[in-house]
Amino acid sequence: MNPLNHVAIIMDGNGRWGLKNKNSRNAGHKAGLVTVEKIIKASIKRKIKFLTLYAFSTENWKRPKKEVNYLFTLLENFLTKKLNNLNNQNIKLNILGNKKFSKKLNNLLNKAEKITFNNKNLQVNLALNYGSKLELIDALKKLNKSKKKINEKNLSGYLQTKNIPDPELLIRTGNTKRLSNFLLWQLAYSEIFFIKKLWPDFSEEDFYKIIKQYKSVKRTFGNVI
Ligand code: FPP
Repeated sequence: MNPLNHVAIIMDGNGRWGLKNKNSRNAGHKAGLVTVEKIIKASIKRKIKFLTLYAFSTENWKRPKKEVNYLFTLLENFLTKKLNNLNNQNIKLNILGNKKFSKKLNNLLNKAEKITFNNKNLQVNLALNYGSKLELIDALKKLNKSKKKINEKNLSGYLQTKNIPDPELLIRTGNTKRLSNFLLWQLAYSEIFFIKKLWPDFSEEDFYKIIKQYKSVKRTFGNVI
């Protein structure tokens, strides 16, 4: 059975779900947040230690202002209401990406990271204003400045994921098969599951089924055994 410490998820399909069911893309984001809470609980049940969720990419700024504002307000309300609850569940919240948001949201994110810093049950990495290419460029600049040898270990040490093991498993919902500038370095040997369902329809059972399948995949890492 393959070990599973870190699951990364591209939560795709909110907009389509919202349009189909409520005639509004934003309603899809609201429903997507319910799925986020379910999958956090399911990850704890499966004793997963790291869950990385792609919530907003560096490219998502191109979306209509109304949608971008809605997403950040959703996140603000979530943190305001649920931070204590997350903390009580011993969940550590960590932000990947550059925190270039409103003062209110930045403060909330910093507060959430600080309060939950020593929590051990599950680390939720929320990728917000995150882009893998930018992360790699920043890491390379720092590595170059450090004058250390350019190798895998040293480069990994300058990524935003420096203290996080690479994901063994990537799930993308929404019936699209691409990586969308997400953890390009860290996913080099991950098992990838592309799921047809839209994120708001993704259930705990779907999650458990994927984990079960992943556990019995033969992982060779380039070897022949
Ligand atoms: C992708 O679906 C989803 C996003 C860009 C946002 C993810 C946000 C959530 C799951 C809910 C809120 C959570 C936080 C932390 C704010 P899409 O909108 O690209 O869907 P589409 O492909 O159908 O257009």
